[in-house]
Amino acid sequence: MKQQIEELLHAAVAALIAAETIPADVQPRIQLDRPRDKSHGDFATNLALMLAKPAKQNPRALAEAIIAAIPVNAVIGKTEIAGPGFINFTVNRAQLIAQLEAAFIDERCGVPVAENPQTVVIDYSSPNLAKEMHVGHLRSTIIGDAVARTLSLQGHKVIPQNHVGDWGTQFGMLLAHMEDSLQEASSDTLALSDLETFYKAAKKRFDDEAGFADRARSLVVKLQSGDAYCKSLWQKFIDTSLAHCQEVYDRLGVQLTRADVMAESAYNDDLAKVVVDLREQGLLEENQGAQCVFLEEFKGKEDEPLPIIVQKKDGGYLYATTDLAAVRYRVGTLQADRVIYVVDARQSLHFQQIFTLCKKAGYANNSTSLEHLGFGMVLGKDGRPYKSRDGGVTKLADLLDESERRAAELIAAKGTDFNAEEQANVARVVGIASVKYADLSKNRTSDYVFDWDTMLSFEGNTAPYLLYAYTRVNSIFQKAGLALHEVSGAIQLPTEQDETLAGKLAQFPEIIASVGNKGMPHFLCGYMFELAGAFSSFYEACPILNADDEAVQQSRLKLAALTARILAQGLELLGIDTLERM
Ligand code: ARG
Repeated sequence: MKQQIEELLHAAVAALIAAETIPADVQPRIQLDRPRDKSHGDFATNLALMLAKPAKQNPRALAEAIIAAIPVNAVIGKTEIAGPGFINFTVNRAQLIAQLEAAFIDERCGVPVAENPQTVVIDYSSPNLAKEMHVGHLRSTIIGDAVARTLSLQGHKVIPQNHVGDWGTQFGMLLAHMEDSLQEASSDTLALSDLETFYKAAKKRFDDEAGFADRARSLVVKLQSGDAYCKSLWQKFIDTSLAHCQEVYDRLGVQLTRADVMAESAYNDDLAKVVVDLREQGLLEENQGAQCVFLEEFKGKEDEPLPIIVQKKDGGYLYATTDLAAVRYRVGTLQADRVIYVVDARQSLHFQQIFTLCKKAGYANNSTSLEHLGFGMVLGKDGRPYKSRDGGVTKLADLLDESERRAAELIAAKGTDFNAEEQANVARVVGIASVKYADLSKNRTSDYVFDWDTMLSFEGNTAPYLLYAYTRVNSIFQKAGLALHEVSGAIQLPTEQDETLAGKLAQFPEIIASVGNKGMPHFLCGYMFELAGAFSSFYEACPILNADDEAVQQSRLKLAALTARILAQGLELLGIDTLERM
């Protein structure tokens, strides 16, 4: 509906340009908002205010002209000019009802399938495999998964790429340490069962033990030149580490599998080619022995040129070189129209440099959209990066254990009639959902404070609140002995609460569109929270099963069913399981 009104406004602007009411060179960005105050209608735009200056007109007069120029349509019920020249729109009730009826019989709850589906490569999770996944990997993993699911729902072809770090110099010390522990222990699985400890031990030897660092370095050289023995040791390590990751993905309900792994090492053979190609294109410069690209667009604080180093003096390649090769593969081989990187905001400069260079070097076409979806840090209550109690980084697996344990205590304290198995399942769902939702519901660009009490609360914009809201809607159907799709009869909107809920339900496709465009799952969370609130007010004010009028009862059941389905759909997009009761 939003899109339809936007199109009508575009048509109105075109008509006014044709009539020379506004100059032809203005290209207004039409912005349609949902006013907070219901009395301002369903949508509002500041278009007349924006155009008043270039058109040399009074904004209210221009607003009138815009309204007059809107083509005849069935969407807009009422328009009104407010304040200095805002235009408020109230959608046609019949149209609203028609949209909801269509959403009710649609398996995507009214989310349209993209007219021009894109191939979208999305790089997310991408941990370094030397260590176990820690809390810092949470954000990329679950934000990426939510965005991937949203784009798939919209009908795009999504290709996940787990760009795991498996090729850095730190693998030398790990291999050296592995070699020794293999000789000592009869079973290597034992030594690798705790990667964190294994890494620490290797690091300590690297720093302290004479000769160990040299051995580590020579093992890296051997590994990178394809030595079979080193490769097999390394492969064993990588397999173990990836298995750890997979356990975490499965617990988190993240759809990544081993097939989505496209590791740094996979680009090994392309790195030299990238450097040769950049040289042939005249983009390389030698600087203190290193091969660099200097782009005018990037300057340091003192205006000094900032290099992208693609090859070190000793011949080694870098993170940036691999990323250049990866863009070539994603655009050239995978045919991506859009490449999305869900990576820590601190890597922003790196990605801006890579993207600019890729366009310049022709590794991406001008039409390819390269996007860095940066995210902030997870902080402790003290405002510093979140740490475990012993001051070390928190393993993601431990964090999830703790969340499940806390959720179990909470459920037990509530006193339910669940048997042990149900109770464990509820605790698992609530525990995982709380950690995920606390993260996904925050604007990804900011840091956020990780706080057990708020995330596990049944009040506010939290997972427990939404999961509970979902069970409440469901319980109506359980009571009625009906399945969600079994409701028949037509939607009607007899009271304001019916209307408010209907308006919220109709917003779902718009929200999905903006999550897909901007890669912002918190829009969806905020929306679901509002929807649950609208349902709650509706439920308090409007009798459903006890409605006097059979037709009203059916209509309300339909709105309730759609609420349940949209909540379930929304939670599924976040990779969160629902519960039938809790
Ligand atoms: N492994 C990197 C890290 O942990 C993230 C990789 C992100 N993806 C990329 N194509 N650079 O910081």
